[in-house]
Amino acid sequence: MRIIAIMNQKGGVGKTTSSVNMAAGLAMQGKKVCLVDLDPQGHASLHLGIEPMGNVPTAYDVFSGFKTLAETRQLVAKNLWVVPATLDLAATELELVDAENREIVLREAIKKMAETEPFDYLIMDCPPSLGVLTVNALTAATEVIIPLQPHFFALQGLSKLLETTALVRRRLNRNLKVSGVVLCLYETGTRLAADVTDDLCAFLGESDPEAPWADAKVFQSRIRRNIKLAEAPSYGQSVFDYSSSCPGAKDYAGLVEEIIAGEQAEESPLQQAA
Ligand SMILES: Nc1ncnc2c1ncn2[C@@H]1O[C@H](COP(=O)(O)OP(=O)(O)OP(=O)(O)O)[C@@H](O)[C@H]1O
Ligand SMILES: [Mg+2]
Repeated sequence: MRIIAIMNQKGGVGKTTSSVNMAAGLAMQGKKVCLVDLDPQGHASLHLGIEPMGNVPTAYDVFSGFKTLAETRQLVAKNLWVVPATLDLAATELELVDAENREIVLREAIKKMAETEPFDYLIMDCPPSLGVLTVNALTAATEVIIPLQPHFFALQGLSKLLETTALVRRRLNRNLKVSGVVLCLYETGTRLAADVTDDLCAFLGESDPEAPWADAKVFQSRIRRNIKLAEAPSYGQSVFDYSSSCPGAKDYAGLVEEIIAGEQAEESPLQQAA
């Protein structure tokens, strides 16, 4: 199982759009996928038409220890399950502050689910922060994919984010690696986007071979700015269901192909540990 954290502490860079459409695209390719919404904003859940009400179990119940992932996930399309989130999840940050092993709650939950249910992919949509939810995602992950909007300050934020992956690798997850950066909200033909992309490639090319991002690549598929991607969530649909031939659907289909092509290189630490 590939366990992928979609992470960037900067807000509005395309994490949720990428998590949802990658998960949906992989499911359409026959992969069994579980998307875990780790953002109290619940945008990934809403994007796929889930608005948990009443006693419907959510990611919060998993962190509280009341429910397992298997009891929480919902089937939303063929091969695609979602563990939804609501604002309740914001309390997790506080409730876990003093808990021993607070960083490994999700990893343990995933391990338990993997014992009985073989998913091909588990994708985690992280919130725009480096708090305990994101640390849980990094501790559970086999790899990190970073959505990045190419603008002037993007690389500064990236260094902080990469330092966090290095810290988590040292302390909590020795197998963690950054597999790639996906350029989102890409403005084709602009000088700025091209310059930032060149800087990013140069920066990754000079990485310390011991760093978690030593083998990180910039995905060839760039996700262009496309209004259909912004419209799809209000219909509770992935871009593939909402507008299957729009540029956004083509870009995410290309990304999914690249991710599947990388399957041979990945191996789950859960499997390695077994
Ligand atoms: N390629 C794109 N073209 C057009 N709109 C996009 C694109 N990618 C994302 N958006 C829109 O930009 C906004 C931010 O995207 P998204 O929610 O995916 O970012 P995020 O990183 O998850 O944000 P947050 O940090 O708040 O979780 C959303 O309204 C989304 O619909
Ligand atoms: Mg989001």
